[in-house]
Amino acid sequence: MKAIVHVDKNWGIGKNNSLMFRLPADMKFFKETTTGNTVVMGGNTLRSFPGGNPLKNRVNIVLSKTLPERADCTIVRSQRQFFDAIKGASGEVFVIGGSSVYNMLLPYCDEVLVTKVKADGGGDAFFPDLDSDPRYVLLSESEEQETNGYKITFCTYKNREVQPLP
Ligand SMILES: NC(=O)c1ccc[n+]([C@@H]2O[C@H](COP(=O)([O-])OP(=O)(O)OC[C@H]3O[C@@H](n4cnc5c(N)ncnc54)[C@H](OP(=O)(O)O)[C@@H]3O)[C@@H](O)[C@H]2O)c1
Repeated sequence: MKAIVHVDKNWGIGKNNSLMFRLPADMKFFKETTTGNTVVMGGNTLRSFPGGNPLKNRVNIVLSKTLPERADCTIVRSQRQFFDAIKGASGEVFVIGGSSVYNMLLPYCDEVLVTKVKADGGGDAFFPDLDSDPRYVLLSESEEQETNGYKITFCTYKNREVQPLP
């Protein structure tokens, strides 16, 4: 299982239950990486999508105690139900946010794909700072590129102490 996220220079990931930046190059990377696979998110992240709808061409698993059942995604009510749901998942499993779900599932992710945005988005939701966590090694960082006026790099971190799925 992997996590995928974009962060600002303070490891901020969102504000007022939405993203802080529009990053076409990152959206393209996210779509290419996750399409055909399984994505896992929390209820707030689903609610933040246009129309509150899941992502197309991916199996969507949503952790929520409150959202009603729906045909176009699998709603799971607990961490235990989540681990049952990903047994036999389609393709790779990507944890796609938000803050509470990243925090819950990061110990089980062997890699984290982090798009770093060289800006301060003034976030109110954060990702753990992997650069100051000795469990994480930066495997690669791309050349800097610009998208919609923002400088970004694509980084891959490895979790040296990944936990087996329960
Ligand atoms: N930068 C990025 O790459 C990125 C990616 C994704 C999201 N985000 C941002 O992250 C922010 C949202 O983060 P967040 O922490 O507020 O929301 P979240 O993690 O998306 O959702 C939290 C919700 O998930 C459900 N949940 C969490 N743990 C659960 C459990 N063990 N069992 C059942 N349900 C559980 C609950 O849903 P219910 O309330 O429905 O019961 C909870 O309120 C937004 O600003 C969003 O834009 C950023």
